[in-house]
Amino acid sequence: MIFLTLLSAALFAFPVAVTVGVYIGIEHQRVFNGDSHFSPWNPGSNTDPGSRYSLETYCQKAYGIEPFPGRYIFNPNQWGVKNNEGELCMNITTDKTATKDSTAAGVFSVTYNYPPGPPEEPVHAFPNAKLQMNDTLPVQLSNMETLILDAVWTYGLGSVIVNDTDSASLTEAGLNANVAVDMFLASDKQKSTSTTDSDYEVMVWLGRWGNATQPIGILDGSKDTHEINGTVFDLYYGANGLGQRVFTWVADTNTTNFYGDISPLVQRLGNSTGPVPVDYMGYAAFGTEALYSVQNVTFFVPELFMDITTVE
Ligand SMILES: *[C@@H]1O[C@H](CO)[C@@H](O)[C@H](O)[C@H]1NC(C)=O
Ligand SMILES: *[C@@H]1O[C@H](CO)[C@@H](O)[C@H](O)[C@H]1NC(C)=O
Ligand SMILES: *[C@@H]1O[C@H](CO)[C@@H](O)[C@H](O)[C@H]1NC(C)=O
Ligand SMILES: *[C@@H]1O[C@H](CO)[C@@H](O)[C@H](O)[C@H]1NC(C)=O
Ligand SMILES: *[C@@H]1O[C@H](CO)[C@@H](O)[C@H](O)[C@H]1NC(C)=O
Ligand SMILES: *[C@@H]1O[C@H](CO)[C@@H](O)[C@H](O)[C@H]1NC(C)=O
Ligand SMILES: *[C@@H]1O[C@H](CO)[C@@H](O)[C@H](O)[C@H]1NC(C)=O
Ligand SMILES: *[C@@H]1O[C@H](CO)[C@@H](O)[C@H](O)[C@H]1NC(C)=O
Repeated sequence: MIFLTLLSAALFAFPVAVTVGVYIGIEHQRVFNGDSHFSPWNPGSNTDPGSRYSLETYCQKAYGIEPFPGRYIFNPNQWGVKNNEGELCMNITTDKTATKDSTAAGVFSVTYNYPPGPPEEPVHAFPNAKLQMNDTLPVQLSNMETLILDAVWTYGLGSVIVNDTDSASLTEAGLNANVAVDMFLASDKQKSTSTTDSDYEVMVWLGRWGNATQPIGILDGSKDTHEINGTVFDLYYGANGLGQRVFTWVADTNTTNFYGDISPLVQRLGNSTGPVPVDYMGYAAFGTEALYSVQNVTFFVPELFMDITTVE
């Protein structure tokens, strides 16, 4: 059995010189800036010449894609790829008219294939959109009031976006992956921004496929259960190879449409040898941890909104 952790490659935040616009404005109310012609479910249809939207494809191994000032920074983050095996590209749709205050992430998809990796390091990539709320993060847990996650996603076989996630066909095809929020925390404010120097990793899995995709501590059984807006999460934990304590909340069904305040999943860990109110969270990202799939699969995120509110 194999135990996973998300260990993201270092981010090289690169000011990208290409002319792409600002995040598309799908707000969490599912209103799209009043533009009834935009279809997040068919991003390719929105990019006719002269359109306010543009779609860019990024296939690099890892660096931050920040095509506009905004709340999220994207990263293909192929941190576990050693010998150029497999391939992964990320499509990001942007809206030239969106403002710096836009709170929704651009529509994105990720298409990839990888062979199975070594059992001790099975993860190839964690393509993600990372929250970049510079005025708020790192946030001390005692000051974190809510951590809202609004995510709609699909996963399908092939190189095209699917509307419906057919878990049976994904499992049959041998996909090993999850869909997750990944967070890092530490008692030291600065270290909490680092995926490797932080003390704690907290993950929230909304989906998972394949028997190699197991949270650290699964053999010890669930240590806690908590329900958020109808989704029941089970907690597993243990230490990873870096000595970080890793806490994984696994949804008991593949939850392709989630809206809720997930801050309790972080705040409750104090009683489970986890972070306590004086600790800081400095990193929060949403994406898919790609272990392997021999054929192309496509992860699609038509809607993503994350927010942190503070007490002060
Ligand atoms: C947030 O901070 C990062 C790192 O200092 C910087 O690259 C980025 O442009 C900032 N983003 C915004 C929206 O201010
Ligand atoms: C499989 O995915 C890769 C990476 O996104 C892409 O370059 C390639 O064209 C895809 N292959 C097929 C057959 O669609
Ligand atoms: C990603 O964008 C490319 C064009 O750059 C397009 O050919 C491909 O079909 C897109 N992939 C998905 C999954 O929509
Ligand atoms: C996928 O769903 C969207 C939104 O419900 C819809 O507009 C679109 O037509 C659907 N596409 C297909 C191929 O069914
Ligand atoms: C995992 O699943 C594959 C096929 O889906 C099977 O061949 C393999 O034996 C399973 N491994 C374990 C450890 O259960
Ligand atoms: C998601 O669906 C797959 C296939 O049906 C199943 O093996 C897996 O356990 C499901 N994951 C969750 C978290 O329910
Ligand atoms: C629960 O989810 C629904 C939509 O899925 C949302 O409208 C509602 O505000 C959520 N409730 C809470 C308490 O987050
Ligand atoms: C920790 O446990 C104590 C005693 O059972 C309880 O009062 C407290 O609310 C718990 N704290 C959290 C964060 O769950």
